[in-house]
Amino acid sequence: MKKLLYGLGAVVGIAILGVAGFLLYFLVILPKDLPVPELAVEITPARVERGSYLANEVLGCMYCHSKRDYDYFGGPVIPGTLGQGGEVFDEKVGVSGYLVSQNITPYGIGDWSDGELYRAIVSGLHKDGYAMFPIMPFDVYLYLTDEDVYSVMAYVRSLEPIESENPGRELSTIMTIIANSRAIPAEPWDMDWNNQLQVGEYYARIGGCTFCHTTADERMQPIEGMYLAGGLGMPWKDKLIRASNITADPETGIGNWSEADFIKRFTDYRDNNIAVADVGWNSSMAWPVYAHIKEEDLAAIYAYLMAQPPVKHAVTIVDNKP
Ligand code: HEC
Ligand code: HEC
Repeated sequence: MKKLLYGLGAVVGIAILGVAGFLLYFLVILPKDLPVPELAVEITPARVERGSYLANEVLGCMYCHSKRDYDYFGGPVIPGTLGQGGEVFDEKVGVSGYLVSQNITPYGIGDWSDGELYRAIVSGLHKDGYAMFPIMPFDVYLYLTDEDVYSVMAYVRSLEPIESENPGRELSTIMTIIANSRAIPAEPWDMDWNNQLQVGEYYARIGGCTFCHTTADERMQPIEGMYLAGGLGMPWKDKLIRASNITADPETGIGNWSEADFIKRFTDYRDNNIAVADVGWNSSMAWPVYAHIKEEDLAAIYAYLMAQPPVKHAVTIVDNKP
């Protein structure tokens, strides 16, 4: 996920670098354009439950904001570190400088107002007014319904506080420009929860599926007609691991999978840590996280994927000689 989310920002960064006159604008002015909304979010058991589901199994918040064990497939969260942050994103994932995921337990963000926290999640602006780097994937979260953001907020507010300090980020000027170009207003979806295709699309977007699985060019821009057709590569040691074609094409995609096959592919990873040493490679796909997506939500994602145009595009998943 790291590499890709950085990629998303990089594309914008490159586009902006072509327009030197705008640099100052992006560096100085843009992030201050989004005011802190007036908000008071009530913490209810229903919100905490929904927020826990979203933050842990769908959105990846707790995956990035906890310590992870990369000796296992998909890098599961190390128990006892939930929300303490400290994951480092540096040149290994293409960041010039480094970023550190921060402590989002009440010890870390207990003094943030609800408006500040809301704005950070969906628009990427830090409490202190600077734009966060889009490895913190607010450009995917901007679609969240307000109620879902409130639920995530209620959940992180109710986390066990962990007293752990993390270093701040250290970014090169270009990385700062990329970050500052990304602060964006929220576009919450108006959801009809009885419409399975819409629910499927919602989860596919906020879960990052559509982003990782759409074929992109070398500048990480989606290629027209290749929605969900796979191929985006992420490095793992000396190998390149590519995202699968998840269109309805029966030969090169997942068109001959039944709904039950699709659901099982996820639930097989429930509480089932696979040693990387046994498999010989690791995936950027957060299987240990997505394994716990509810079966009805997986079914909705499946229905949505099957309703998109099939694309014939063979992908080599584990490429030993990229
Ligand atoms: C960070 C990038 C990333 C994200 C986000 C992501 N995937 Fe994947 N996915 C991959 C990669 C890489 C593979 C191939 C390696 C593997 O099987 O783990 C893959 C494999 C798969 C497969 C197996 C396909 C096959 O032919 O075996 C399915 C199904 C799938 N993803 C669906 C999803 C869905 C649904 C979501 C969202 C809930 C999602 N992915 C989110 C990167 C991603
Ligand atoms: C792919 C990894 C990733 C995911 C997923 C992610 N974050 Fe972050 N988050 C980061 C990083 C990295 C930073 C630091 C960004 C920076 O310094 O520019 C951050 C910063 C933050 C901050 C600022 C905290 C501070 O004290 O500076 C908050 C709040 C936050 N994230 C909440 C969330 C929530 C809530 C979610 C889920 C809805 C989430 N994050 C998902 C990586 C992630």
